[in-house]
Amino acid sequence: MRDPIPIVIPDSLQLDDAADALRAGRLVVFPTETVYGLGADAKQEKAVARVFAAKGRPHFNPLIVHVQDVSAARQIARFDPMAERLAFTFWPGPLTLVLEMRPEAGISALATAGLDTVAVRVPAHPVAQALLMQFGGPLVAPSANPSGRVSPTRAEHAAEGLGPDVAMTLDGGPSAVGLESTIVGWDMGEPVLLRPGGLPREVIERLTGPLKSPRLSAQPNAPGQLASHYAPRAHLRLNTTAPLVSEAFLTFGPSPPSTSAPTLNLSPSGDLIEAAANLFAYLRALDASRASAIAVMPIPTGGLGEAINDRLARAAAPRTD
Ligand code: TXA
Ligand code: MG
Repeated sequence: MRDPIPIVIPDSLQLDDAADALRAGRLVVFPTETVYGLGADAKQEKAVARVFAAKGRPHFNPLIVHVQDVSAARQIARFDPMAERLAFTFWPGPLTLVLEMRPEAGISALATAGLDTVAVRVPAHPVAQALLMQFGGPLVAPSANPSGRVSPTRAEHAAEGLGPDVAMTLDGGPSAVGLESTIVGWDMGEPVLLRPGGLPREVIERLTGPLKSPRLSAQPNAPGQLASHYAPRAHLRLNTTAPLVSEAFLTFGPSPPSTSAPTLNLSPSGDLIEAAANLFAYLRALDASRASAIAVMPIPTGGLGEAINDRLARAAAPRTD
């Protein structure tokens, strides 16, 4: 049996260690006022890939980026006046805003699942605040439970079954809210309630007026059902070892077939975590090569391979709009 993940009291020494672990690309479980989060450096693709691996998520859902305050959030996303008012009124607190991303912010493409929008929130819990301050940058943090289990609201429940990439759990007592944050996004300029959560709809609607319901296919809680998947311009041709003339080639592993096609290898060593970390960035790069299509080598299905194959299949599916 593995050593259990240490649960520590977040004094300044432990916060320092936690921030170092995050900088090294490891994961740290930390308390927020909603639920405990599984934190990773939002700018390191590989650290973000480890979050999906640790949770055993079969899909790459986009993650929430946690920041210390509104000005840090403004460096990552564009705020219109209504977003400014919501942030001013409810942050720090259990509200997440899905906004247009600033690409220059350097947020991992895996964290946003390749989308041009980003979900941001400023957590209120003092330990979350202290960790963000000590770390000095944005952290992705889904709830700290393996996929399919309930979100943890106390340190002892967090991190159960999450595996060896988690450096520690910071104990911040029971979560006060106990429900995930409410998520608000915009559809053609109109505010939409993407996920009900710890901040009641009515309280938000006092500022926004009635919130719309997401279009059915945009339900964020049905994994993989998100309407706006990243879709490359070029078509994808999956499970092939031979690119056609004018195709680009996305390969995997130590001995891809050699061709004259523009090629990127997701992981020459055959590491699925590395492959996940490179997936969206490489799809975008090959798309930019103006190839007519992107041929993709078979990717193994174990571990993160399931999510990688799921995302490739969606990107390859015929467009409906
Ligand atoms: O309370 C919370 O929000 C907790 C704590 C730890 O902060 N975190 C949390 O994260 O619940 P997670 O990863 O379980 O939920 C992320 C949700 C997903 O439903 C996802 O689809 C949605 O946020 N989301 C993230 N980025 C999005 C985007 N660009 N567009 C639409 N939905 C997005
Ligand atoms: Mg969750």
